[in-house]
Formats: sequence, structure tokens, C-alpha cells
Amino acid sequence: MTTQLERLLEAKSTLVVVGPGGVGKTTSAAALAVQGARMGKKVLVLTIDPARRLANALGLEGLGNEEVRVDPALFVEAGVPLTSGALFAMMLDVKSTFDSLIERHAQSPEARDRILGNRFYQQASTALAGSQEYMAMEKLYEVREERDYDLIVLDTPPMVNAVEFLSAPDRLEGFLESGSLRVLLAGVRTAGRFGMGFMKLNSRILNVMNRFVGAEAFLSLLEFIESFQEMFEGFRKRASRVRGLFSSPDLAFAIVTSTDQVALDEGLAFYDRLREDGMPFGALVVNRVRTGDIATGAHDELVDRFLKVAESAPALGLRDRSRISRVARRVAEANARYDVLAEMDARRIAAARERLGDAGDQLWPVPLFARDIHDIGGLAEFGELLGRSSERAEAEASASAPQG
Ligand SMILES: Nc1ncnc2c1ncn2[C@@H]1O[C@H](COP(=O)(O)OP(=O)(O)O)[C@@H](O)[C@H]1O
Ligand SMILES: [Mg+2]
Repeated sequence: MTTQLERLLEAKSTLVVVGPGGVGKTTSAAALAVQGARMGKKVLVLTIDPARRLANALGLEGLGNEEVRVDPALFVEAGVPLTSGALFAMMLDVKSTFDSLIERHAQSPEARDRILGNRFYQQASTALAGSQEYMAMEKLYEVREERDYDLIVLDTPPMVNAVEFLSAPDRLEGFLESGSLRVLLAGVRTAGRFGMGFMKLNSRILNVMNRFVGAEAFLSLLEFIESFQEMFEGFRKRASRVRGLFSSPDLAFAIVTSTDQVALDEGLAFYDRLREDGMPFGALVVNRVRTGDIATGAHDELVDRFLKVAESAPALGLRDRSRISRVARRVAEANARYDVLAEMDARRIAAARERLGDAGDQLWPVPLFARDIHDIGGLAEFGELLGRSSERAEAEASASAPQG
């Protein structure tokens, strides 16, 4: 039977995984990639901030911007051997992505070295607001152009608000075109006519500047902007092409969120935004769902039965029996409380599904696991839960349930 996930992976060759921080974006991106590889695809997962154990499992040991093939033996060990697919992983490194962008657009090796060695650049390349988001898109663009993967899954940096991600190329383009940058450039050009030496000698200007940013920093900023302006056009064109990625028909967004109301609302807001802008929605993964495996009330009955057995056990003394009944009652209470949470999650999911309307079956709930997910086996288990509509999963579960 084809699942929703299989349908999505047949239709799309790039998935961009977005969502609030800490909900399981990196895990979902890796799990989607694992499923792609299990479907026989050559897959690359571009991760941003994998937890150490996940990074280790993928063979990413701190190397930035380098593809590594995930050892097929790990799939065999996990009991999910690959037939024809392959999984590659890469850890996105903002600084080296920025560096290679400079290398690509610099007019001469001297200009390149001047920028790469510039003090202001070294700070700006990692600290500029939005540069992480932008560089993630930039890397995706590059990999799509230059490599032959069947599927690329892009993890995105932790953001205050996921919607920010969509505006990263616009913000870069906006910055490059902004009036303030032009004024600054014009100033640099004037200064340039007299040469940087003029600025250096003009101690009054520097004294004033010093109070704000420090003379040295100011000079390296001027130098940076001066060298940067040669690349301005190339950079701007690239930003607009990178933005064009968002509307590629073979790309889709996978929004990851949790049942926490704030996170869920943010996920839905992202969905609304995609709809408004005509951008392709792939799935809404609702992670860490608390599921009530035990129907409300059923555990009370179990506890009662357990207590009866305990009471009639001849070897137990009075004290043992009262201890047992105390523990049993606590278990019953904890279960009841968990059932309340599970019910709350189920209600939130139902409401979110309703909000998605026609796209309701693209909401994929994933339960809260009892442990961290940091190896191929865990990712495969997580991945298998993706993209099966709840009705289908229920039907399958009851069909495969042991009889009698
Ligand atoms: N369904 C789940 N059940 C239990 N633990 C999970 C689940 N999903 C993710 N995790 C764990 O939560 C932590 C954060 O996940 P991660 O994918 O790094 O989040 P994000 O990238 O959104 O910040 C990881 O340790 C991961 O193993
Ligand atoms: Mg992450």
C-alpha cells in the first residue's frame, strides 16, 4: 500500500524541513532521508545542528560542508538493509558556505583574499542576522545545481519564528539594495578617491567613530564594503535565484511542530503563509504526541484485578499487601493523568487537521518515544510512522492484531 510519504517522495526531489526550535526538525529531516534511501533513492540530508549522538550515527564528526556516505552496514545492523538506495549526510557550515560564495563572486584572487582576511567579514559572515537561514538556502541551491541526488532533505536552523526562513533571501536582497548601503558605498567611493590613507589620516573622523565602533573596526568595515561592492551584482542575482527555489515544483516544505499549543499555532501559521504565497506544502509533522495506549478506565480494571490477585496470594503479609495497593493506586493515578494529556493532544490534532481542510491527511502525528532517536534504527522507526493517515494506521493495526 502506498503511504502519503511515499507519494510525497515520488513527487518531490527536495524537502525543506522547517519549524520552531526543539520540536524534532533535525530528527524528522534525518528520518525522511532514511525513508527515501529505503525507497531506493540516492539521498542527501543537509543537517544544521544535529545532536552529537545523531551526528555520530550519521558519520558527521565536525566536518563542515563535506558529504559523507552513511555506512550501509548501519542499515543492515538496524534490520533495514538498503537495496539500491544510498544515504549521504552533510553538516551545514555557515562560515564555509559564505566563504565559497565570496570565492565564486570575487573578481580576482586578490579581492577574494582581501575579503576573506577582513576582520569585519569574519564576524559578519557568522553573526549577520539571517545569514544562517540564507546560507542554508544557498547551500541547497548549490547542491541542487551541481549534484545528482534523487532527494535532498534540508534541515533548517533553529529560528525564533519559522516564517523568518522564507524571507531570508528577500532580506539579503533588500539589504543589498537598501538606501543605507548605497549611501555608505557612495561615501566609500568618495573616500576612495582620496584613498583609504585619507581616512586613516583624518583623525577627527576616526576619533568620533572610535567612540562607536572603534577606528580599526570602522576601517575594516569600509574596506569590506569597498571590496564587497564589486560582487554586489553577482550576489544580488544569486539571492534572487535562491529565492526562486521556493516556488520550484519539485520542492515541498515539511513543517515540523509539536502538540504544544504555541508550537502548533506557529506550524499552522507557516502553513497559512505557504498557502498565501502559493508555495508547495508537503506535510505537517506533529511530533511528540502523547498517545493513550490504555483506553481511559481500562487500567483501573487492570489495577483492580492485580490487587485481587495480590490479596489472595498466601505468601504476602498485611504490610506487603498495603504497600502493593498503594503503588498500584499511584500507577492508576499516573495513567489517568497521562490519559488526560493524550486526550488533549488528540483534540489539538483533530482541530489542526480540520484547519488544514483538504490537506488534512498531510498532518502526520508521531508519538513521543520513550528514548532519544539517535541511530538508523530509531530514525527508521520514526520514519515508518510518517505519512500514514491515522485511519489507515488504525485499520492496519487492527488487521494485524493477534486474534483471540
Ligand atoms: N518523537 C520523539 N520522541 C522522543 N524524543 C524525540 C522525538 N523527536 C525528537 N526527539 C529527541 O528530541 C531531541 C531534539 O530533537 P531535534 O530533532 O534535534 O530537534 P530540533 O532540530 O527541532 O531542535 C533529540 O534528542 C531527539 O532525539
Ligand atoms: Mg535542529
